[in-house]
Amino acid sequence: MRKGTDVYVPVYAIHRHERLWRDPNAFDPERFAPEQVAARNRYAYLPFGAGPRVCIGSSFATMEAVAVLASLIGGYRLSLQAGYEPRMAVRVTLRPARGLMMELRRRTD
Ligand code: HEM
Repeated sequence: MRKGTDVYVPVYAIHRHERLWRDPNAFDPERFAPEQVAARNRYAYLPFGAGPRVCIGSSFATMEAVAVLASLIGGYRLSLQAGYEPRMAVRVTLRPARGLMMELRRRTD
């Protein structure tokens, strides 16, 4: 490889690699249980990068996401709008291509 060559880390592929993850496409929040995180290679999960330039906002962003989700999920049940097929758009980050059409129902339980 020549000096100056651009090298891209395929984060999307790493996050879904079957040699790194059990059932990689399944929604499985237990993957992030402390004992599973401890058993995993540090470089298997890189949403905030790694090394000396790792994201300095990672703890804040993770805490904020948990706080937002917890306050939403405590009050509402969320489901995809009937017949809506979500599609991915790969930009700098991964996002829904045409928004994410959801239905919110206030929790009564
Ligand atoms: C979900 C939210 C976020 C994601 C996915 C994210 C992701 C990233 C990634 C991938 C990098 C590059 C790391 C590398 O080069 O290896 C980065 C760098 C950085 N992030 Fe974030 N970030 C998030 C939120 C934030 C927040 C909330 C802040 C500030 C409060 C922040 C501040 C920074 C800074 C300053 C850098 C540059 C660090 C450096 O070059 O030394 N990020 N982030």
